[in-house]
Amino acid sequence: MPTDSTNLPTIRSFSKDNPIRIMFVCLGNICRSPTAEGIMQHIVNKKGLGAFYEISSAGTAAYHEGEPANSKSRYVAEGHGVKLLSTAQRVHSDDFEYYDLILAMDQSNRDDLKSMGPKTKTSNKIVLFRTFDPKTIDDIDVPDPYYGGMQGFENVFEIIHRTCENFITYLENSREA
Ligand code: 4NP
Repeated sequence: MPTDSTNLPTIRSFSKDNPIRIMFVCLGNICRSPTAEGIMQHIVNKKGLGAFYEISSAGTAAYHEGEPANSKSRYVAEGHGVKLLSTAQRVHSDDFEYYDLILAMDQSNRDDLKSMGPKTKTSNKIVLFRTFDPKTIDDIDVPDPYYGGMQGFENVFEIIHRTCENFITYLENSREA
């Protein structure tokens, strides 16, 4: 059961010819959102559903543009069999139109996205990622692991993994054969 079922977005129907377009967003696009992108891609590939999903990630800031994912994020993900292959990019103004859903890793990312994007039409596309966390939680943000140790990166991986699993279950209800 997602955390806050009153805030769940409506998902359009999608198919191989019309894949659902999803973008994960954090601050730097080197730790949390690349982890979400990599896990999401890994799970849909494993289910044989890769053709139905177009998955990407970006940051609200450009500090790390052009860089691979953080080495600790990659190390932890690889320990769980997940490769992080993204190159950091900043959210682009076209993304608000192009993507069906834009998942913010924390409330500050969500507020930044809302102030960056066009005010109409797209605001219902911007959703807090942990809306889909199946665990009862008292925190609705994916914590920023950047300045901490390995345990923080493991914790972030675990939160993102269980949330992606639940998110995919939710999305699959709107998939056409
Ligand atoms: P992310 O983590 O938003 O999960 O990619 C961060 C990466 C870099 C910085 C902050 C957070 N930074 O300040 O450079």
